Amino acid sequence: METLIQIEQIFPSLTWRIRHEAMYPDMPFDSVKLKDDFEGTHFGLYADHKLTGVVSLFSQGDVYQFRKLAVLPNEQKAGYGTKLMEYILDFCKIQKAAVIWCNARVNAKEFYFKFDFIETEDTFFKDGYDFVVMEKELKY
Ligand SMILES: CC(C)(COP(=O)(O)OP(=O)(O)OC[C@H]1O[C@@H](n2cnc3c(N)ncnc32)[C@H](O)[C@@H]1OP(=O)(O)O)[C@@H](O)C(=O)NCCC(=O)NCCS
Repeated sequence: METLIQIEQIFPSLTWRIRHEAMYPDMPFDSVKLKDDFEGTHFGLYADHKLTGVVSLFSQGDVYQFRKLAVLPNEQKAGYGTKLMEYILDFCKIQKAAVIWCNARVNAKEFYFKFDFIETEDTFFKDGYDFVVMEKELKY
């Protein structure tokens, strides 16, 4: 039977387990908590009622940053990350956002190119990963 996919806004703490498993399994659990988590808007993708992917959005005026896009390791490459990205891009348009940006892991850059994000010249190294700032202007 086809997998039932549902995306919903979720409470901040529900993101932490998936962030930890997908992004920083070797770091302490608390390291995935963000200082700003309770100011953000968080979304969860449920596959057959099981929380499988998460992403978090933070806004300053009409500039939106998404952080910690994460899909459970055994469920990656099945289109769930794409569905979450499409969902937050729609959400940002509804909010009349001008720009959406992220600190992308360099090894995930190709994934963001699929959504027409542009690589900027801002790069940095943190927690064992190379990052590049990527952004997309939202046009209406
Ligand atoms: C990156 C991530 C969120 C993508 O989610 P996903 O559900 O695996 O991705 P999807 O199945 O929707 O899309 C995968 C597509 O992106 C491409 N891709 C490029 N780089 C990729 C990468 N590092 N990981 C996954 N897919 C990648 C795939 O080739 C595929 O392309 P296709 O649809 O043309 O075949 C997920 O793999 C993940 O949680 N990774 C670990 C944490 C992470 O790196 N998060 C991003 C931090 S910036």
